[in-house]
Amino acid sequence: MSGREGALLFQPFPLGRHGRSLPNRIWVPAMVTWRGTEDGFVTPAVREIYLRYAQGGAGMIVLEATGVRDVASGPLLRLSHDRFVPGLRALREEMRAASSALVVPQIIDFLKIARRKPVRTFMEQAVAKGLLDEAVLALTDSAFEQAASSLLTPRQFRDFRYGYRQTIEDLGRDEIRALPGHFAQAARRAQQAGFDGVELHFAHAYTLASFLSVTNGRTDEYGGSFENRLRLPLEVVRAVRESTDAGFIVGCRYLGSEDILGEDGRLGGNTVDDACAIGVALARAGLDFLSISRGGKFDDAKQPPVGEAAYPYTGHSGHTCIPRDKGTPFGVNVPLAAAIRKAVRAAGFTTPVVASGKIVAFEQAEAILREGRADLVGMARALLADPDLPRKWRAGADGAQRTCVFCPFCEEEDQHHRLVTCTLWPKGTRGPRSRLTPEPWRLGPGGRC
Ligand SMILES: Cc1cc2nc3c(=O)[nH]c(=O)nc-3n(C[C@H](O)[C@H](O)[C@H](O)COP(=O)(O)O)c2cc1C
Ligand code: SF4
Repeated sequence: MSGREGALLFQPFPLGRHGRSLPNRIWVPAMVTWRGTEDGFVTPAVREIYLRYAQGGAGMIVLEATGVRDVASGPLLRLSHDRFVPGLRALREEMRAASSALVVPQIIDFLKIARRKPVRTFMEQAVAKGLLDEAVLALTDSAFEQAASSLLTPRQFRDFRYGYRQTIEDLGRDEIRALPGHFAQAARRAQQAGFDGVELHFAHAYTLASFLSVTNGRTDEYGGSFENRLRLPLEVVRAVRESTDAGFIVGCRYLGSEDILGEDGRLGGNTVDDACAIGVALARAGLDFLSISRGGKFDDAKQPPVGEAAYPYTGHSGHTCIPRDKGTPFGVNVPLAAAIRKAVRAAGFTTPVVASGKIVAFEQAEAILREGRADLVGMARALLADPDLPRKWRAGADGAQRTCVFCPFCEEEDQHHRLVTCTLWPKGTRGPRSRLTPEPWRLGPGGRC
């Protein structure tokens, strides 16, 4: 016995409306793995990593961002059609055989994005579309780059510098009104596949987060006032509830702060005060949990190299989302989660709040719960580095922990849509980036590691 059995972290936690319960309060937040097939089906590599999380002993496993619309999106998993249900059901069954953890896919909608074009290609296409006069083709590439800001509209100039990116302001009403149905159908399929619920992706650079943001520039009933910015997310919540059973867990991930660094050096986007008001509205709408993330926006992302698409984790907001700077404090987002939890409680709701962001040590995690700063502890990279962390902590074998060093390796794999592994895993034989999923950790004789 390690004496850890009484720790809050290892107490069960009821979630949702109908008696479902997490075996403990350790939460694996969504992490894209880029392990699906090119058309979004589950593969043995997907099953391998989620089985490892299940064997490792976490209480909740959120399956990576999974698309709700049936659009080409490479190896990203999808729930956009019934054809994806059998593979996901097999995955869920395999996890259930290994663990009593609850498992929910994070369901996401995202808008179109294209790679940055070479200067000449951009010029030629702009001329062909009638956006620029043919005379510009006489300019050299560098002369065009110099003149581009005066020749192009601000939006065209952005597309020139970063590559085309669709925004919520481009969406027609019909496209917006179709979205709740896409989320609802994806949730229905998640239920058919045996998942315990869904996490609605209302965070980072993606469609629903852009509606919630103060940067939402729509001028119709889906933009402007607080009420209007919440309209679509609340429609999604309602549609998902209507398409699933009462006991199905429906929570969301959203931003405790957007942290968008402007060209004037000031931070913009939603602040924690905005996030507190959003949290109260989402709790009132009946969500079963609120998982708090931060940043991860396109607005301040770095210019991508020619031939690559912009990646929302390269600028200031991106670095607050997936902190890689060794100087970033541990538990960096806990104050956001604590403020939101306080606001939600003050409004009379008991909705559980999940904190994540550089949480790596047992004492740190336990203190967050003991001090009432969050109800559940999310650890993304710490659990990627060591999926057995919950079992090791429970056994008091902290010395056996493989501790994340916050290098950017897994994030780089994500950025380049390469199969995500951890640099601390044993080396594979297929090239310098290949890593082998670690064997499950076993206690030695007499409970020693
Ligand atoms: C490789 C990788 C993939 C990620 N994919 C997602 C994702 O699909 N959905 C999401 O909400 N967050 C995603 N994140 C962000 C993490 O869930 C988490 O919020 C972030 O890494 C900070 O927590 P940590 O310090 O515990 O890693 C990803 C992070 C990494 C490193
Ligand atoms: S690759 Fe680096 S940042 Fe990612 S989990 Fe492993 S040690 Fe942590």
